[in-house]
Amino acid sequence: MTKLKFYRNFWKLNRPEINTDYYDLNKDGQLVVNEGNYQYNLYELTKKFGTPLEIAFPFVIEKRLRELMLLFNRWLKNYHYKGKFIYHYPMKVNQNKEFVLPIISEGGNLEVTSANELWLVKRLWEQGQFNTKIRVICNGPKTNQYLSLISELRDKGLQITPIIESLDEITSIGGFRGELGIRLDPDVKIRAHWDKRVTRFGLSAAEIFSLGRVRNLKLLHYHTSTQIEYQEDMIKPLKKAMEVYVKLRKTNSSLDMIDIGGGFPVPHEKIPLFSAESVIKRVIRTIQKACDRAEVPHPDILCEWGSYLVAPAQTTIYSIISEKTIAHATAKKWYIIDGSFMNDLKDTWAIHQKWHVVPVNYASSLKMTRTWLAGLSCDSDDKYANGGKYILLPRSEELENGERLRIAVLDTGAYQDALASHHCLLSSPTKIIIQNGVITVARKRETPEEVGREFGW
Ligand SMILES: Cc1ncc(COP(=O)(O)O)c(C=O)c1O
Repeated sequence: MTKLKFYRNFWKLNRPEINTDYYDLNKDGQLVVNEGNYQYNLYELTKKFGTPLEIAFPFVIEKRLRELMLLFNRWLKNYHYKGKFIYHYPMKVNQNKEFVLPIISEGGNLEVTSANELWLVKRLWEQGQFNTKIRVICNGPKTNQYLSLISELRDKGLQITPIIESLDEITSIGGFRGELGIRLDPDVKIRAHWDKRVTRFGLSAAEIFSLGRVRNLKLLHYHTSTQIEYQEDMIKPLKKAMEVYVKLRKTNSSLDMIDIGGGFPVPHEKIPLFSAESVIKRVIRTIQKACDRAEVPHPDILCEWGSYLVAPAQTTIYSIISEKTIAHATAKKWYIIDGSFMNDLKDTWAIHQKWHVVPVNYASSLKMTRTWLAGLSCDSDDKYANGGKYILLPRSEELENGERLRIAVLDTGAYQDALASHHCLLSSPTKIIIQNGVITVARKRETPEEVGREFGW
């Protein structure tokens, strides 16, 4: 095995099953990203734009959505399933334009959760930027502002479906003149970060049945959790939802869609969990069997896998600016980054998210050390210790001419941007977008004036 091949395997690059298929190393041990025959040297980009640096890859989103649609459509056909597959992107996962527009251009639809997200949809709609066939699902608590925007867009011709999420919304949304959805709380225990056995979202099966016929009911929706790490846990709630669906369909003939929500996991620790194809096959068969048994037509299948689509489409790069010896721990060194986990990658702190960390330079270095990573804020919680294990990175003695080690945190495209903050008034990373060989700056590094302004200075 060549040295380069060894390190490519060591850092788990170029492996589609863990979403690193477009990452590779060049002969100098620098991290590169391939978009077809375009190649971007991430090390050179950090030299040009500085660190911390967020890099978004819209082409990754486009490819993933195309493949998802292909897989669903292939298996619908193979199983002679009568309904369609419809993808809805949950905007909450990443509302940045460079994430949403590629999805729309590939034929994706949207799911929104607030009046402000819907307002963005309204703007695109009014600018005539949508195919009139696009569908929008509205989840989340319905404030008056949200409700009036839903009605306004419906009156303007958008295919918009508000989802009833609680009993009181029966009154506030019940009079809506368009199609309606209803959210089920499947009440099944699954193994994910959140135990959704007790959830405030959705109606119980009994509550739904107590409603009898709901005018214009089109869709039954559920969403149990994000980052569901066992395949069985993606199917269990669906089985429960299908029990409700077939019964509900008997009293509601307009019902013809089942929405399986989000939750497909990102292998952040780079251990392959299960394939999308295996889940897709089971999803289709589960719905088909339940309907055939109950002699109910096959519904269209809606899916809101958000992280699955967009997490791999962004990486966040930091420089190591100093180090400190750790006396008694599994790790030997603190490596201090020039950004903040607590600010830029908030889930590190909030839900102890694990990440795949790869050197951007010196990735084929022979000597490595066990590290914990610390953020630049003065907060002792601003760190990433890989769940108390360690992160293996090149030793600083390996670096030539006082050069800094740069590290890439992969799969940062889901949730982190909207959760980001300014603890210790640190500036957010510069952000660039890479597509078709063109590099665009989406966000410059904030100046002290700009950060101060956000705090009323
Ligand atoms: C209703 C709904 N759909 C979809 C998603 C996306 O989930 P994920 O990113 O795990 O696919 C969420 C996330 O919380 C959600 O609340």
